[in-house]
Amino acid sequence: MNEESLLALQNVSFAYDDEEGKRVPVLNSVDVTIDKGSFVSILGHNGSGKSTMAKLMNALLLPAGGKVLVSGMDTQNGEVLWEIRQHVGMVFQNPDNQIVGATVEDDVAFGLENMGVDPKEMRARIDETLFSVGMEKYLMAEPHRLSGGQKQRVAIAGILAMRPSVIIFDEATAMLDPKGRQEVLLLARKLNREEGITIVNITHFPEEAIYSDRVIVMRAGEVMMEGQPSEVFSQVERLKEAGLDVPFVVRLRHELAAKGIDLPFVLHQEELVEHVCKLLLTK
Ligand SMILES: Nc1ncnc2c1ncn2[C@@H]1O[C@H](COP(=O)(O)OP(=O)(O)OP(=O)(O)O)[C@@H](O)[C@H]1O
Ligand SMILES: [Mg+2]
Repeated sequence: MNEESLLALQNVSFAYDDEEGKRVPVLNSVDVTIDKGSFVSILGHNGSGKSTMAKLMNALLLPAGGKVLVSGMDTQNGEVLWEIRQHVGMVFQNPDNQIVGATVEDDVAFGLENMGVDPKEMRARIDETLFSVGMEKYLMAEPHRLSGGQKQRVAIAGILAMRPSVIIFDEATAMLDPKGRQEVLLLARKLNREEGITIVNITHFPEEAIYSDRVIVMRAGEVMMEGQPSEVFSQVERLKEAGLDVPFVVRLRHELAAKGIDLPFVLHQEELVEHVCKLLLTK
């Protein structure tokens, strides 16, 4: 484990018990490191073990084999469990399951009260984190009246208030409409860039991964691919075989290439548009 790595799964295996008590392997020799300050996306088919990995990263689950380290702390060590949970915040899929308070303010206060943070400090943290997620005007709002995207932002504020070093988004945008999805994703990127928070984004949307520093692709409990977005997404056929989609821009370029129109590899729509325009002008 190098000094920069915040999370490390070292040769990790994990199995669940099925209804008859039989062990069903879910993760197999997984080696993953997440560097401090990075934005990492995890892609993979249903059931490939992504959520299990996330739960191992904040000690909700413990590995059957291998080690999980959070800032060098072994998740098997019960004495540091509380510290690990504070370090690694998790945002889940369903916004309604994550709201506990009757008002937005209460909701963010909840975790802090549990931590025993003093009232003055608590006031400051609530205001600061709601501002960070752009929900400061909703302090007294009832969470059930908010949109899905706003609810997720309140859930994120609740996590931020605990001052985590990493936030894991486990399909946190899956139940949101495109606007809500955009809100949450932009917020994740902002927290990464401006506040240095490490982000792990587990997603089914390949588009969400183009801004990450690294992409990890899981398949049947193993790491199938890992690299920068351009390295991973340029392997369109391999991803397709694993039943995974690529960002629209990559797919379009791939289909144009099949028709004999070659364009440079890009990930962003504006870049592709630029290349297509250049091509049209030179024809
Ligand atoms: N609590 C559990 N008990 C038994 N088996 C489980 C449990 N949770 C998950 N599994 C099984 O473990 C495997 C991996 O599940 P996991 O939830 O980690 O996958 P995932 O990649 O997050 O999938 P999805 O994309 O559907 O969220 C699946 O086969 C799943 O059925
Ligand atoms: Mg999952």
